[in-house]
Amino acid sequence: MLLLALLLLLPLLAAARLLWGQWMLRTLHLPPLAPGFLHLLQPNLPIHLLGLTQKLGPVYRVRLGLQEVVVLNSKKTIEEAMVKKWVDFAGRPQTPSFKMVSQNNQDLSVGDYSPLWKAHKKLIRSALLLSMRNSMEPLVQELTLEFCERMQAQAGAPLAIHKEFSLLTCTIICYLTFGNKEDSMVRAFHDCIQDLLSTWHHWSILILDIVPFLRFFPNPVLWKLKRIIKRRDHMVKEQLRQHKDSLVVGQWRDMTDYMLQEMKKQRVEGGAGQLLEGHVHMAMVDLFIGGTDTIASTLSWAVAFLLHHPEIQWRLQEELDRELGPRVPNSWVQYKDRTRLPLLNATIAEVLRLRSSVPLALPHRTTRPSSILGYDIPEGMTIIPNLLGAHLDDAIWEQPHEFRPERFLEPGAPSRALAFGCGARVCVGEPLARLEIFVVLAQLLRAFTLLPAAGHPPSLQPLDKQSTSLWMQPFEVLLQPRTPVPRA
Ligand code: HEM
Ligand SMILES: *[C@@H]1O[C@H](CO)[C@@H](O)[C@H](O)[C@H]1NC(C)=O
Repeated sequence: MLLLALLLLLPLLAAARLLWGQWMLRTLHLPPLAPGFLHLLQPNLPIHLLGLTQKLGPVYRVRLGLQEVVVLNSKKTIEEAMVKKWVDFAGRPQTPSFKMVSQNNQDLSVGDYSPLWKAHKKLIRSALLLSMRNSMEPLVQELTLEFCERMQAQAGAPLAIHKEFSLLTCTIICYLTFGNKEDSMVRAFHDCIQDLLSTWHHWSILILDIVPFLRFFPNPVLWKLKRIIKRRDHMVKEQLRQHKDSLVVGQWRDMTDYMLQEMKKQRVEGGAGQLLEGHVHMAMVDLFIGGTDTIASTLSWAVAFLLHHPEIQWRLQEELDRELGPRVPNSWVQYKDRTRLPLLNATIAEVLRLRSSVPLALPHRTTRPSSILGYDIPEGMTIIPNLLGAHLDDAIWEQPHEFRPERFLEPGAPSRALAFGCGARVCVGEPLARLEIFVVLAQLLRAFTLLPAAGHPPSLQPLDKQSTSLWMQPFEVLLQPRTPVPRA
């Protein structure tokens, strides 16, 4: 009986809140509201949201479930919010699923904006850039060479390359974070993060963010998610314990050593709390989640586009041979050489534009009342930057759906796209991601010619199950060795 009453009461309360909110908003000059309730069911949400700009302009409101959100669909409006008015737009909505995966809100990527959050971001950024300044590139180079050697052993047979990229990027982040690249550990973390992401993105979890009272119903997927989080936290805690046991003060072997020692030194503005071990814990989780499939997926898309455009692949190989000379086994393609490899650099920019692996970024939340393009944006509003939409805006990009790296080499070309977001919430992993994508593609194209495995290139349509990430449909590639490498 009580349950029934509760079930009836909760939707009523939700509806009352909604009406009250609507009435309050009526006094403001809000962006136009898109008709309809079912936008979330659109298979390709970023493209659908871009389509709505035809009638409504680049900024509009749309209903996602019970809440209204503001969508920004152009580079200009995204930069106005995230760069020019960054403090106003630096928050994150605190949804039930965000809270569940983030251990008492000690997370960076889904954490709300606060002085403590700022200190946390600074810690992670300096862990990546400062503590790894001299070791990041050698590490990426060495692991990429090992990767190419493994690929050499499988050359000539159809290869599901996404899985290989995913293990490589996970190995790199494991080594940077924990100073360990043992196969069993990398696989354990890799599988755990894959499970976590696929469960988290399951509709029966996503719906809890939209219709929160559904969490009072039995939900086996939710139980599974909680089990995976437990497993994740157990693995991370074990690493923390090992690092604390063998720590030498004043020295760091990896990012964990660095963060454990530096967390206490970070000054938090206004004395608002202090960074704790939980923040280091969640930093590791963020690094693994952010640093594995995003990069692997960009690399897979790059391979797919090159399979569709053999002439560009040929020109890239020609550029590498011309600038770097014939390939010597085990030699690096240094990151600083990218200035001599403009076509490769432009190709990467083009892949990031057309298949930004986080096409709708992460949702932002306004920390105080603000405005965009003259429209009022109330405090506490969820904001969705449609990065992919901005990348396909035909007011800026000529024939935006075409894969044409040369567009970045032409005079007056638009500057690079916004695949990593911008402003206070910009991706902390951008420098690492750019380094990895460059080194892996350069080494791969030096060592192999990429050929379609089934006689035809893979589909360029994203898997539309998940419109919040642009994953590829599974595909295989043939790697044909370019220069015979002497066998050891
Ligand atoms: C091609 C690769 C990648 C792409 C396209 C990408 C894209 C993005 C985007 C669009 C955001 C959200 C920005 C916003 O909220 O406005 C983001 C946030 C983030 N990314 Fe990445 N990312 C990539 C790789 C990485 C890597 C390698 C790491 C870690 C090593 C990483 C860690 C993070 C973290 C921690 C955040 C949250 C930042 C915050 O909330 O302030 N990402 N990324
Ligand atoms: C690589 O290409 C992007 C996009 O055109 C450009 O902004 C950047 O300056 C280029 N970098 C180098 C090193 O040429």
